[in-house]
Amino acid sequence: MNIHNYEKLWLVLAMVMIIGFISTVVYGATAVGIEMVNDEGGTIDSTALEEDDRFAEPRVERVGDNEYEAYVVARQFIFEPDPIEIPANSTLTFYVTSPDVIHGFEVVGTNANAMVIPGEVTELTVELNEPGEYGILCNEYCGGGHHTMEGKLIVQP
Ligand code: CUA
Repeated sequence: MNIHNYEKLWLVLAMVMIIGFISTVVYGATAVGIEMVNDEGGTIDSTALEEDDRFAEPRVERVGDNEYEAYVVARQFIFEPDPIEIPANSTLTFYVTSPDVIHGFEVVGTNANAMVIPGEVTELTVELNEPGEYGILCNEYCGGGHHTMEGKLIVQP
């Protein structure tokens, strides 16, 4: 009889742990007001970015109500444009590419984190619900100035 009760207790504890793990993941994905929706891209000639409609002039463009696109060039050892500014409660799709070597593109404190590979366009969509400032970091070693390579994302109130 006692053994049966202990079994029940362990079953309950196991359920509590599983629910706890799921809550942690959900909390991590939504709590900071910025949520990654997808990440896929396309290809590009990394030696001719200056001839590309999107990347000749790195910038942020409004493409709809509360919808923005950012064309970002990650190069040794800067992100362009910098800062990236967007109003709160908008959806922002980053298109990021590199003319030189592999870089990283991480919005610090969120799950938006991707590799930027010469010849490829990294596409990342995030939802920006709350105002705030986020650092953008390169987390792939890309040369002597790697540790100085950073940018800023400003979500305006
Ligand atoms: Cu760019 Cu490290």
